Amino acid sequence: MTIKESVKKYSRLLKDITHIPNKEVEILILHILQKNVIWLHLNYNEEFKEEKLLEKLVKKRATNYPMEYITNKASFYGEIFEVEKNVLIPRPETELLVEKAIEILKNIENPKVLEIGTGSGIISVMIAKEIENINIIAVDINDDALNLALKNAKKHQVEDKITFIKSDLYQNIDENFVFDMTISNPPYIANDYKLPLNVEFEPKNALFGGKVGDELLKKIIDHTYNKKITYLLCEMGYDQRKPLEEYFKNFKVEKYEFYKDYSDFDRGFSIKFKKENK
Ligand SMILES: C[S@@+](CC[C@H](N)C(=O)[O-])C[C@H]1O[C@@H](n2cnc3c(N)ncnc32)[C@H](O)[C@@H]1O
Repeated sequence: MTIKESVKKYSRLLKDITHIPNKEVEILILHILQKNVIWLHLNYNEEFKEEKLLEKLVKKRATNYPMEYITNKASFYGEIFEVEKNVLIPRPETELLVEKAIEILKNIENPKVLEIGTGSGIISVMIAKEIENINIIAVDINDDALNLALKNAKKHQVEDKITFIKSDLYQNIDENFVFDMTISNPPYIANDYKLPLNVEFEPKNALFGGKVGDELLKKIIDHTYNKKITYLLCEMGYDQRKPLEEYFKNFKVEKYEFYKDYSDFDRGFSIKFKKENK
């Protein structure tokens, strides 16, 4: 069977779970053969000898198992990151959080940043790539996430700028450390929310933030303020703007801003706390 015939045959199994079944079978073939797209187009009518393996992967994907966990890759902010089971897959909207952070950090000399819940490390790694002389401490409660994040930091050659620490929020962060910014894409989904099928394969402790959903976000706001950290940037749920805006009233805030994602949903915020808080 040729590659072309294989794409036609196996894409049928994926038509109910994706609107790009042909493309997905092609991606799986490229993953199996470890080739790139240009090679694929030049060899579309060549014999494909790995049909058994393709069938196995297509069947796995047909259960809604995420493509990124099969290929162990995801693209984020124009770069390729390693992805592994048991660690959240990077989402495109998190690029907006990174963009907002870079805008602020490029105006701070030798900035020091704390990331809560680093997952695959995408946020810290991208910021470290873009900002010179930056120092980042990135924490997570998940060992698999911390190992993967370090791998991604090495892949992108920024491991000297980031220290990864296993910590439940701030528990293991030295009291004396001083930061200019906290950044976080924490778990923010309410515990009883029914996840879409594909998301079911991702780690629950990366997704669920508590009974209401914004509990961890609020703890992060409290801590950032109490530690006199000037900036806080967070991703959040589309329906959390109102309660969070209300919560901001408990603090001396110089300015804050909510931003929307690519689908025009509220998706995150940045706060600058007042200087007299220092
Ligand atoms: C939504 S994921 C974000 C991962 C990554 N930063 C990203 O944007 O793709 C949240 C991360 O927070 C971590 N996490 C959950 N609870 C935590 C806690 N109490 N302290 C530190 N990290 C936590 C999870 O393990 C997960 O990696």
